[in-house]
Amino acid sequence: MTIQENFSLKNYNTFGVNVSATYFAEVSSVDELVEILKNDDFSTLPLLFLGGGSNILFTKDFDGLVIQLHLKGISEEIPDENSVLVTTKAGENWHEFVQFCLLKDYGGLENLSLIPGNVGTSPMQNIGAYGTEIKDTFVSCRVLNLENLEVEIFDKEKCRFGYRDSIFKQEGKGKYVILDVTFKLTSKNHTVRTDYGAIKSELEKLGIANPTIHEVSKAVINIRQSKLPDPKVTGNAGSFFKNPTIPLEQFVDVQKKFPEIANYPNGNMVKVPAGWLIEQCGWKGKQIGNVASHELQALVIVNKTGNASGKEIFDFSTMIIDSVKEKFGIDLEREVNII
Ligand code: EPU
Repeated sequence: MTIQENFSLKNYNTFGVNVSATYFAEVSSVDELVEILKNDDFSTLPLLFLGGGSNILFTKDFDGLVIQLHLKGISEEIPDENSVLVTTKAGENWHEFVQFCLLKDYGGLENLSLIPGNVGTSPMQNIGAYGTEIKDTFVSCRVLNLENLEVEIFDKEKCRFGYRDSIFKQEGKGKYVILDVTFKLTSKNHTVRTDYGAIKSELEKLGIANPTIHEVSKAVINIRQSKLPDPKVTGNAGSFFKNPTIPLEQFVDVQKKFPEIANYPNGNMVKVPAGWLIEQCGWKGKQIGNVASHELQALVIVNKTGNASGKEIFDFSTMIIDSVKEKFGIDLEREVNII
C-alpha cells in the first residue's frame, strides 16, 4: 500500500471537480485498511472513505487522509433451489455487479442497472430507481467499526433503510466502513417489476409484452441513457436533490395553484417530484458559468464545461433551493454528500 501526498481527486469524483487530498491511500484488503487506521501518523487526521465518488461534491481541498476502498471479489451461496445469496466486496463497480448477476440469470437487481458508483456505498443511501431499492434484495452487510476496528454484521433491520436513507447517513455516519454486501436474488421464477411508467412505455416501444430480467435491464439502460448524462462525458452525481415529502395540507395548497403537479401520496404526506419543481422555476437546461441543470432532467446538476469548482456547483444548488422555496414554499434537500 502506498500513501500519496497532495493527491488530485479529479478522477475520483464523478463531478470531476479538481480538488486535492493531503494524503491518499488505496487499500485492497481489510487487513490493509486496519493497518492504515492503526498508523499513528494519520490517527489525528480527518478521514474520508471513497467508493466510486458518484454521490459526493468536494467544495474544497480535503485536509486529511482519503482512503479509496479497492476491495474486490464476489462469492455465492445457494440457500434453496429458487434463490442465491451473492456477497460482493465494497470496491466492485455497481453496474458491473448487476451485469454479473444478469449473466448468471440471477434476478432482483435488473431495475438498478447503470447506477454509477460502487457496491459499498449502495446501502448508505439505499440506492433506488424504477420501482426498486436495494433494501428489496439486501440481506446484510459486513462493516468495520471505526471505534474498535472490529468487524460487525448489519442485517436489514439494523440498517434502517428509508428513501435514499439508512443508519449510515444518520447516527452511524462516520462510524463504520462497509466492507461487503450480501443480496438474496432469485435463481429461477423471477419476478419482474415493470410498474414504473417509464419502464412500461420503453418495453411497449421495444414491442415486449412479457419481459425477462434481461429485457427489463435493457429497458432501464435505454431510459437512463436517454435522460441522464454519462458522468464519463459530463461530470454529475445523478439526482442532486431528494424528491421532497410534504404534508398533505401543504400539497393541497400547492395543487390549487399548480393542478398538474405529479404526486405520490403516502399517508398524511405526499412526495412530489423535485425535477418538476425545478423545471417550473425555469432552471431546466439553464447554465451559469461552468454549471448547469441538465437539459433532459432538471434534478441533475452538471459540470457543463468540465471546469466547475465544487463551490460553484454548491452555489448553483443553493440558487435552485432558494427559487423552489420562493415559488412553492417547499424545501429541497440535497441528496449528494457535501464535503
Ligand atoms: N420531471 C419533470 N422535469 C424534470 C424531471 C422530472 O417534470 O426535469 C417529472 C417527470 O415528468 C415525472 C417526475 O418528475 O413526472 C419523476 O421523474 P423521473 O421518473 O425522471 O424520476 P425522478 O423522481 O426525477 C428518481 C430518482 C432517480 C431515479 C428515477 C427513476 C430521486 C432523488 N431520484 O428521479 O435516481 O433514476 O427516480 O426511478 O429519487 C439518483 O438518485 O441519482 C437518480 C438518478
